Amino acid sequence: MLNQKTIEIIKSTVPVLEVHGEQITTVFYKTMFENHPELLNIFNHANQKQGRQQRALAGTVYAAAKYIDNLEAILPVVNQIAHKHRSLGIQPEHYPIVGKHLLIAIKEVLGDAATDEIINAWADAYGVIADAFISVEADMYDAAANQKGGWDGFRPFIVANKVEESEVITSFYLKSVDGNEIATFKPGQYISVKLEIEGEDFTHIRQYSLSDAPGKDYYRISIKKEAGMETPDGKVSNYLHSSVEEGEVLSISAPAGDFFLDTEKETPVVLISGGVGLTPMVSMLNTVADLQPEKEVTFIHAAQNGKVHALKDEVAATAAKAKVNSVVFYDQPTEEDRQNNSFDVEGYVTKEWLKEKVNLEQSDFYFCGPVPFMKAINAALKDLGVTEDRIHFEFFGPMASLEV
Ligand code: HEM
Repeated sequence: MLNQKTIEIIKSTVPVLEVHGEQITTVFYKTMFENHPELLNIFNHANQKQGRQQRALAGTVYAAAKYIDNLEAILPVVNQIAHKHRSLGIQPEHYPIVGKHLLIAIKEVLGDAATDEIINAWADAYGVIADAFISVEADMYDAAANQKGGWDGFRPFIVANKVEESEVITSFYLKSVDGNEIATFKPGQYISVKLEIEGEDFTHIRQYSLSDAPGKDYYRISIKKEAGMETPDGKVSNYLHSSVEEGEVLSISAPAGDFFLDTEKETPVVLISGGVGLTPMVSMLNTVADLQPEKEVTFIHAAQNGKVHALKDEVAATAAKAKVNSVVFYDQPTEEDRQNNSFDVEGYVTKEWLKEKVNLEQSDFYFCGPVPFMKAINAALKDLGVTEDRIHFEFFGPMASLEV
């Protein structure tokens, strides 16, 4: 437990952190990677470049500082991050490395303002926060390894099937090399894929949502080819699309994540996706069709046009056999799309449309897509009076704020 004095010091440094938080975490990463380049095997280089990881970590540090005497209050956030950490293979021995470099960074950025008293208080506070993560993660490691078909760390999976779903999205069907059972998952969860790309100094780990229902002898992930080979995300997704063929073996960690469909609830659900954000939604849709075919589902998908619209036939087939109303939005339909009537609405998913077409009083809303899309959906649902407990979403990559 922290003493009262330490708690006061921590709380009084929150405004300073809010001013310098990002600068501190930027210095922190730079110094940490200089001293521990091996950690570049775990961290996503793309997130570092875009500064998103810095913002995510800075945000968590403020939250922790504000709630240092009541960490229970941020348990949902800890839980979400711990899922990601478990999926990446973060271990207790990594925490002191992060702690040490965080303190070095605070000292460097704050200069004389970082008195010994402040630094010591932060060292103590970091210890408390780290212990909270380590303990939640230990339970998650146990659960992942001990579940039926589960495992610890990374397990080899063979690409059994590779299917082009659109001009930009390709599915990979992954089967365990050992032929043994694979852990089940909740629709909406993701796996991590660890890649060694020839000519690269470090491994790349990426999370991909599972895009089919659980209960099969494979996991399916559907990956978007990102533009530009020069960006780390571009490099990884292009490598998967162009160089990973059927028969190739990939290292996969057990399913993780706290964004998933509640399959106990009988009330209607509205699944809304933009672009490749459809992958967890298709998993949810296929699961409902398997387990709760009587449940009322509205499946809303927004894409630019038919060329980039993935899993279209699969969604249509599922919709036909369950109580699913599938609605397709294109904001830039092609002439061919018009001729084939391959979309329902031209434009974006708007508040007015939602107000008119979906059950706002009873439904749970799940959504995933690019950040601006998610901001618009989140704002619309709130304006329409949908309560927070019925709003569920997932970001690609590090968490961001949905406030507009
Ligand atoms: C992801 C916080 C310790 C490695 C994250 C995220 C947050 C965070 C907020 C983003 C979650 C998301 O993507 O949704 C923290 C805090 C820590 C801590 C507050 C200490 C108390 C560690 C340690 C390591 C680590 C010890 C390993 C050295 C990572 C990695 C990611 C991540 C690799 C994925 C994002 C990326 O690759 O850029 N962490 N973390 N974290 N964390 Fe931590």
